[in-house]
Amino acid sequence: MYSFLEMRNITKFFNGNKILDKCSFSVKQGEVHALVGENGAGKSTLMKILAGLYTPDEGEILINGKKVSITIPKHGQNLGIAMIYQEVRLFSDLSIAENIFINREPLKSPKFLRLIDWDRVYSETRKYMKHFSLDINPHTPVKSLSAGQ
Ligand SMILES: Nc1ncnc2c1ncn2[C@@H]1O[C@H](COP(=O)(O)OP(=O)(O)OP(=O)(O)O)[C@@H](O)[C@H]1O
Ligand SMILES: [Mg+2]
Repeated sequence: MYSFLEMRNITKFFNGNKILDKCSFSVKQGEVHALVGENGAGKSTLMKILAGLYTPDEGEILINGKKVSITIPKHGQNLGIAMIYQEVRLFSDLSIAENIFINREPLKSPKFLRLIDWDRVYSETRKYMKHFSLDINPHTPVKSLSAGQ
């Protein structure tokens, strides 16, 4: 079976230091991988390149055999790449629901008015919370949650 995702010869420099040196990684559909290495080995950097947070200095990324250009996180998201970051990067003063829907808020129709459908933001969030058996008000600011929550 061909690789669903392929990262080929990815090289990345930070401040003149070679962090990734022709790093290759591929995943077939349905596979689950663990990327293992010592602290500072470059695991997060490789994944951030895949997500579009960083652009590689060399190398290429292919999805379903087609070369893709992921230069901003939105490109990665559009290709179905979701990343859960090691460091929690949330807007602590915003609510749970606002964090979940940040930058992809559902809009009221007509869409051209670009009015956010807050009822949907909160009702959808309530569904997610129920799915994970979390009994927390989606209006709760993220700063008052525990790490686990
Ligand atoms: N934005 C950055 N600017 C400069 N150097 C960076 C940056 N991000 C990471 N580095 C450096 O790149 C190297 C690889 O870091 P990275 O976070 O990818 O490692 P890691 O394998 O995820 O480590 P850990 O196991 O600690 O999570 C480290 O030396 C780190 O200090
Ligand atoms: Mg890391």
